[in-house]
Amino acid sequence: STESTSDTNAGGEDDGKLKVGFAQIGQESGWRDAETASIQFYAGQNLDTIDFKFADAQQKQENQIKAIKSFIDMGVDVIGLAPVVETGWDAVFTEAKDAGIPIILVDRMADVPEDLYATFIGSDFIEEGKNAADEMAKLIGNSGKIVQLEGTVGASSANDRKKGFEDQMAAEYPDIEIIASQTGDFTRAKGKEVMESFLKTYGSEIKGVYAHNDDMMLGAIEAIKEAGLKPGEDIKTVSCDGVKAIFEAMVAGEANVTVECNPLLGPVFFETAQKLANGETVEKWIKSEEGIFRQETAAEDIKTRVY
Ligand code: AHR
Repeated sequence: STESTSDTNAGGEDDGKLKVGFAQIGQESGWRDAETASIQFYAGQNLDTIDFKFADAQQKQENQIKAIKSFIDMGVDVIGLAPVVETGWDAVFTEAKDAGIPIILVDRMADVPEDLYATFIGSDFIEEGKNAADEMAKLIGNSGKIVQLEGTVGASSANDRKKGFEDQMAAEYPDIEIIASQTGDFTRAKGKEVMESFLKTYGSEIKGVYAHNDDMMLGAIEAIKEAGLKPGEDIKTVSCDGVKAIFEAMVAGEANVTVECNPLLGPVFFETAQKLANGETVEKWIKSEEGIFRQETAAEDIKTRVY
């Protein structure tokens, strides 16, 4: 499949507007949809000042690279990118740099020299993983066997959530054993499939499941129920994101904790793009502020969730 693009100024004439291209990963999760909606909503509200091009890369790095090249050809002022994986960006980022177009990394990091991107807007995934480990330890009384559902192979949010979690477990909780860990590609369907295979192998030995996002956990919850066990009780759950559906699962007693990751990055993305277009300097990491939400307060918390 090929990437799709949309354009709020198909003619491309120079009308004095801020010209921004954004290369999105795809639509793998509720979180991703919320991020896309936040960005598109802001652009839609500011049609008089922003000319916005959006590309959906359908999970493929090659499509993101193609989108970036076409934004360079269009002569946009700023390029935004949520890199599907961390590596492999040097050449196309260098092309953007040579064309004088700053790159804003949104949500996920890229493993490139600092001078190849202007700023990273997003979360501290290592911290999220560390917080998830502390929450899991509390839930299972500091000991027992657990499994991990990893995000997309090579994605910074998967790499760092794994590292933060595993390092914290090794440092603080010697009696917790991660008996299996496999990618579920950040999707509900894969999360379910991988959890089914973990359950087949380990059954009720599993005391907890850590998923790098809520969507995979929602799939895992289905698998646990189908195996005749109670998610949230027999098998404790900790996942990342904070989407509405995981709050619903917590209210139903089927999930325990979500470590928030903020997808509502539209406003800060465009404000930062405008600053860069004005030649202003911006922080190298514009960090998101995030919380931890637990089953105990989910019924109250859900009332104010916007994604
Ligand atoms: O990079 C952020 C992750 O990507 C979110 O946790 C996940 O849901 C998304 O697909």
